[in-house]
Order: sequence, then C-alpha cells, then structure tokens
Amino acid sequence: MMSVSALALGVLVTACSSARRSEPILGRVAVAEAGFGSGRHVFAQHCHTCHPGGEAGLGPALNNKPLPRALIKFQVRHGLGAMPAFKEDHLSDGELDELAAYVVALRDAR
Ligand code: HEC
Repeated sequence: MMSVSALALGVLVTACSSARRSEPILGRVAVAEAGFGSGRHVFAQHCHTCHPGGEAGLGPALNNKPLPRALIKFQVRHGLGAMPAFKEDHLSDGELDELAAYVVALRDAR
C-alpha cells in the first residue's frame, strides 16, 4: 500500500515539474501564433538590433517591466537618448499599435 502511494506521488511530482518546464515554451509559441499584424515584422526590422527579442542589447530590456502601451508608443515616436525616433513616414499609427501590442506580449510570454 505504502509503495503504491509513493509511486503515485512520484508520478504526480514528475507531471508537475514537466508542466512547469514547458510553460515558457508555450508562451513563446503563443507569441509566434497570436496575430499582431505587422508587429512582429516591424519589431524584427526596427527594434531587434537594439532590443534583441525584447532582451537588453544596445538598449534596455523591454520584457522585464510593465511598460504601458502609451509609453512604448511615445518612446518610439519621439526617441530618447541613444534611441532614434520613428516618425509617421517610417511607421504608420496602425503599425505602431500592432508593434506596441507585440512588445507587451513579449513581456507576457516571458
Ligand atoms: C539604435 C538602438 C535602438 C533602436 C533601433 C531602438 N531602441 Fe528602444 N531604446 C534604445 C535605448 C538606448 C534606450 C534607452 C533610452 C534612454 O533611456 O536614454 C531605449 C529605450 C526604449 C524603451 C523604454 C524602455 C524603458 O526601460 O523605459 C522602449 C519602450 C523602447 N526602447 C522600445 C523600442 C522599440 C519598440 C523599438 C523599435 C521601433 C526600439 N526601441 C528601437 C535603443 C534603441
């Protein structure tokens, strides 16, 4: 009797730990599959060089703090310090909305 419940417990613990391990992978898949319109593409084109995958690079990490969409959009439009501004002729308002949604999702998927 003892050994059966010990075995059951072992199975439970194994199941739990493997579920926990797979969470970040699921998160990344969710980012890859959710629809951001152009967000993913725009990020790869304009942001990835300094914020690789949302991590810190030449710029700070974007995925480790709750940046409000309005702040993300303001920063992109106006730039700050070493970060260039991306004006309407480079990035439409629609693209900027989708980009902000993508940046927020990078944090949520972390
Ligand atoms: C040439 C490098 C460069 C590029 C390209 C760049 N950034 Fe940045 N980014 C920076 C730097 C440097 C900072 C920090 C600015 C400061 O505080 O002086 C920053 C800061 C930010 C912040 C504020 C982060 C915080 O911790 O407050 C956001 C949001 C951001 N960038 C988003 C973006 C997005 C979205 C793009 C693409 C449109 C982008 N950046 C493109 C260099 C870059």
